[in-house]
Amino acid sequence: MHRPLLMRPFGPRRARAGRHPAPRSARTARSTATRPPSRTGIGLGLVLGVGLGLGLAAASFAGEPRLNEPIRPLPESVDVNPEKAALGRMLFHDTRLSKDGTISCASCHDLASGGDDGRRVSTGVEGAEGMINSPTVFNASLNFKQFWDGRAKDVVEQIDGPLQSPIEMGSLWPETVAKLYEDDEYPQRFQALYPDGINRPNIKDAIGEFVRSLVTPNSRFDQWLKGDDSALDEREKHGYALFKSYGCVSCHQGANVGGNMFQVFGVLNEYFKRRGNITEADLGRYNVTGNIADRHSFKVPSLRMAAHTAPYLHDGTAETLRDAVDAMFEFQLGREAPDDDKDAIVAFIRTLAGESEELSP
Ligand code: HEC
Ligand code: HEC
Repeated sequence: MHRPLLMRPFGPRRARAGRHPAPRSARTARSTATRPPSRTGIGLGLVLGVGLGLGLAAASFAGEPRLNEPIRPLPESVDVNPEKAALGRMLFHDTRLSKDGTISCASCHDLASGGDDGRRVSTGVEGAEGMINSPTVFNASLNFKQFWDGRAKDVVEQIDGPLQSPIEMGSLWPETVAKLYEDDEYPQRFQALYPDGINRPNIKDAIGEFVRSLVTPNSRFDQWLKGDDSALDEREKHGYALFKSYGCVSCHQGANVGGNMFQVFGVLNEYFKRRGNITEADLGRYNVTGNIADRHSFKVPSLRMAAHTAPYLHDGTAETLRDAVDAMFEFQLGREAPDDDKDAIVAFIRTLAGESEELSP
């Protein structure tokens, strides 16, 4: 799929349906919104699910919720098993998951600073340099696929990647399981939650549960979507209007403002020819499908936490948000724009980042 999605699902008919939902518990609405996307077109389902949830959340604001927007609010909470998530949180921060005991998931996904590592590309065990920029883990479970090239279907399947990669954590599952059995706490904590104790599926399940809990609701932009007109200033509102009118929203859309389709990077200009030194990681989705049309195609990244996750792009070459926006104008839209417009768009993007107790204040 290399064409921007049509905006149909946000049309008036469905939006109306979302405004007067049949009585249903918030829990049902939320689980629809956060179900790991696995079917084709699920991005739309996801968006619609969140749309339905919106009707329920709107009550706390005086203004009318904005239901016809191509961006939907993030779910305010997700259904996770709190004990499993707490166990997953320990594992996420545990360097024993890596071969030499130096690296944890948090080494490359530092939650306090936005869920990424702030480097151009990641560094793994024994100082090995990675090939690609580390995306944030916040809201990752809402992306339709995992990784820049979408090679993992969800945040549980994804875990085999970093754990076993020789340039990330470099571990073998049997060693990892054995190390965790030596711990004072893990054997009991696993046993209490999983009858078959510590093993690969259960470790993955617990970490996955924690990662699913990492959503960032209640951003200023979401408050505005829910009807609070004062949540954004005029410049930010203008930035959002430009984000739509320039067509950014045809790729960055839905609750995650991205994360629901693949797109070729450099559709209108040839980014890679100019940058040179093409690596395997630059081939993107092609590495998964072998389809020539997928060369340089990537999952459109979510912009939800972009305020916190410099540097940008899969190769980490854009140092600031403004640099990334410049690259988008040049390579995705093939057009010029006044600095004022670009800066207003950056101001808008900064309003997308919401709250999490994991983030430092
Ligand atoms: C050495 C650094 C490093 C470590 C350690 C690491 N990651 Fe990552 N993570 C990355 C990079 C780089 C990517 C992007 C890889 C790609 O797309 O090919 C990534 C991608 C992800 C994604 C996909 C996000 C998305 O939107 O596509 C998730 C989720 C994730 N990591 C979670 C974890 C978890 C859980 C662990 C621990 C088991 C972990 N990571 C360990 C660097 C790391
Ligand atoms: C044709 C689809 C498409 C359009 C249109 C588009 N983008 Fe993107 N955007 C992408 C893809 C694909 C990437 C990832 C490229 C890469 O890293 O190689 C991306 C990356 C980004 C990033 C970097 C995110 C990160 O975490 O690294 C930002 C910021 C961004 N886009 C903003 C915008 C803005 C603002 C516009 C409008 C001016 C826009 N995009 C238009 C597809 C698109």
